[in-house]
Amino acid sequence: MVASPFTPGETAWEIPGREAQVTQIMGVLGRVAVEGRFAGRVRVDIGPRGVGKTSLLRRAERAARDLGLATVFVTAGNGTLTSVVADEVAVLTRGWGHGDVLGGRVDQVKVSAGVPGVAAVEVSGGARPGPEVTRAFRDLVTAVARAAVEDADRRGLVLLVDEFQSADAESLRTVAYAWQELQAAESPVPAALLGAGLSHTPDVVTRAVTHAERFQYRPMRDLEAHDARQALTAPTAALGVSWATDALETVVERAQGYPYFIQLYGDEVWRAAGDPGLGGRLSMDHVLAAQDQVDIDVNELYRSRWAKATARERDLLTAMAAQQDGPVARRDIAEALGVETTALSMARQSLMDKGIVDAPAHGMMQFTVPGFGTYVRTLTQH
Ligand SMILES: Nc1ncnc2c1ncn2[C@@H]1O[C@H](COP(=O)(O)OP(=O)(O)O)[C@@H](O)[C@H]1O
Ligand SMILES: [Mg+2]
Repeated sequence: MVASPFTPGETAWEIPGREAQVTQIMGVLGRVAVEGRFAGRVRVDIGPRGVGKTSLLRRAERAARDLGLATVFVTAGNGTLTSVVADEVAVLTRGWGHGDVLGGRVDQVKVSAGVPGVAAVEVSGGARPGPEVTRAFRDLVTAVARAAVEDADRRGLVLLVDEFQSADAESLRTVAYAWQELQAAESPVPAALLGAGLSHTPDVVTRAVTHAERFQYRPMRDLEAHDARQALTAPTAALGVSWATDALETVVERAQGYPYFIQLYGDEVWRAAGDPGLGGRLSMDHVLAAQDQVDIDVNELYRSRWAKATARERDLLTAMAAQQDGPVARRDIAEALGVETTALSMARQSLMDKGIVDAPAHGMMQFTVPGFGTYVRTLTQH
């Protein structure tokens, strides 16, 4: 009896189908680690919830560490981003040389970002970051990247920011300006910033930052069938357990390439087979036995998303579900509801922030999880 190697709802260790992303990220990290360069562009991998963004960012973190880079991983949305980064930097650099200098830089970021409790002075309180915030953040990144090389036997610094769309506007501005200035530094600062966020991250950044060209977005999509197959077979093969072909193909088809569903099916099939061990085989019977539990889990996922939506948002979801599955034009939804498209923007924004819908292209909307449209229809059509 071996515990399931699948990870529904948890970061995936192996990420088949993301080879292109990993290669590109390795390129960025390599230039920092090997050539001591500054990564002037901020790469942000974007996509719907459950597509594998956090898993990719964690993979990038491991790659950075393997290259000898110091890493700081934060999740935006819980406090002022720059100040949260500063706190994590303080943890990272504990025990490094020049501790007092770095500590001072950390405090400067927090004070200038107006974090209460750090110092009596609260800066301006306005929406625009003063040059002092930018300077403080820039100086912190510079000091830590240099200290990493000089005092900690590392090759530079990598900041990783998950849930980028939840970052506060002021921090986004600070980061954008600081990155601009760091790019112009006379001697290169060995640092990089990588992000991951929901599909509407570019909208959020553009609203906060006037010159957002520093940011580079890379959309992530559901997995192709061969990658889904790999995601299902590699973890079991490592434990000496195989899949019957019909069982594997059925799961590949039902999971629809959605990484979370792949993990969920894998996990339930594994359990239905009674936690097999070496020489075990996952069969069609196991898949059929697993289906009920998968349905329960998936329904719970749909239910919790529906529960998060307000009455207004539910109207929008219902109108969306009434159209075809797949991307729906915002215009068509507005028409169905008898309103102007602009009247939808607040509900749409909120649904995107909640990760329930996604904007796959300009003027389009889509449910983030496969099957949600059908679920909404069963709820609302009598
Ligand atoms: N490349 C992949 N192949 C298979 N499963 C994956 C892959 N990437 C992520 N997963 C799984 O998909 C689910 C969502 O992954 P996560 O990284 O949390 O996505 P996101 O951050 O986009 O919401 C998790 O259960 C995770 O284990
Ligand atoms: Mg995530």
